[in-house]
Amino acid sequence: MSAPLPFGEWMACVQERVEKALARHLPPAEAIPARLHQAMRYSCLNGGKRMRPLLAFAAGEICAASGDRLEIAACALEMIHAYSLVHDDLPCMDNDVLRRGRPTCHVEFDEATALLAGDALQTQAFLLLAGESLGDPAAQLEMLRCLARASGSLGMAGGQAIDLGAVGRALELPELELMHALKTGALIGAAVTLGALCGERLSGEAHQALERFSRRAGLLFQVVDDILDCTASTATLGKTAGKDSAADKPTCVGLMGLERAREFAGQLREQAIESLALLGGRARRLAELTDFIAHRPF
Ligand code: IPE
Ligand code: IPE
Ligand code: MG
Ligand code: MG
Ligand code: MG
Repeated sequence: MSAPLPFGEWMACVQERVEKALARHLPPAEAIPARLHQAMRYSCLNGGKRMRPLLAFAAGEICAASGDRLEIAACALEMIHAYSLVHDDLPCMDNDVLRRGRPTCHVEFDEATALLAGDALQTQAFLLLAGESLGDPAAQLEMLRCLARASGSLGMAGGQAIDLGAVGRALELPELELMHALKTGALIGAAVTLGALCGERLSGEAHQALERFSRRAGLLFQVVDDILDCTASTATLGKTAGKDSAADKPTCVGLMGLERAREFAGQLREQAIESLALLGGRARRLAELTDFIAHRPF
């Protein structure tokens, strides 16, 4: 057996694979209505860390998942994520003009097109996940259910609603944790679950370990996003730095200050990696991704 790729090379391989697959699974730019399809492709392609696809591929390593199935799950996840960003940036939400180093979708196109591009990316994700055969039909149905739950009012959309409802209002830590768990953690958790559902059946204990991991890694992801918002530059982030703090949004740094937020992130990183213990060496990529999430520059 050949030695596993170094983490950086593994990550670049998955990112490249997902980029090509997304380009294939999105409607062509010239298909009518071309402007809508261009906006969808603009928002999905050529940018982003592809964290959710990476988490799905990493979870897939635990259960010998097929790369072809993982690719479909990864594209569906990334389409939902891209939709959430397009809507998050709209003037009625965070009102941001920069995303992934380029003008946001509504700036490059227009507000109505951005709204529709988000809508259509969401349904394209489910069309893809339902339309391809992914082996076991029961597992595929569970993937659809999981992605729907994680995207809707009990997941990402619900977290965004709490976020908007809390502007200018001080949150206590449990409320902030719930908001982060929903707006960001839910889709991170779905990425891990979908990856795990692409391979051999895992034990109940293994699923529980992955759930614990996802809760911690999901919270870590948003806490680090909050920290980067007030420590990194716009050029590094590719999105407007200081935006969340300036808009009086509920963030971890706003609640506990920068130093304690950093400590909290460190604890979450450790706890996330600890929850993988039961899975042994098969969870190596998930552990490496946790480190990446904790120390990423953007
Ligand atoms: C940004 O997500 C929004 C959050 C949920 C914190 P990412 O940091 O994954 O953004 P991209 O996909 O790399 O642009
Ligand atoms: C967004 O959180 C979470 C989503 C569901 C898109 P943020 O509003 O903090 O994300 P950024 O900082 O704009 O990427
Ligand atoms: Mg937001
Ligand atoms: Mg935002
Ligand atoms: Mg942010």
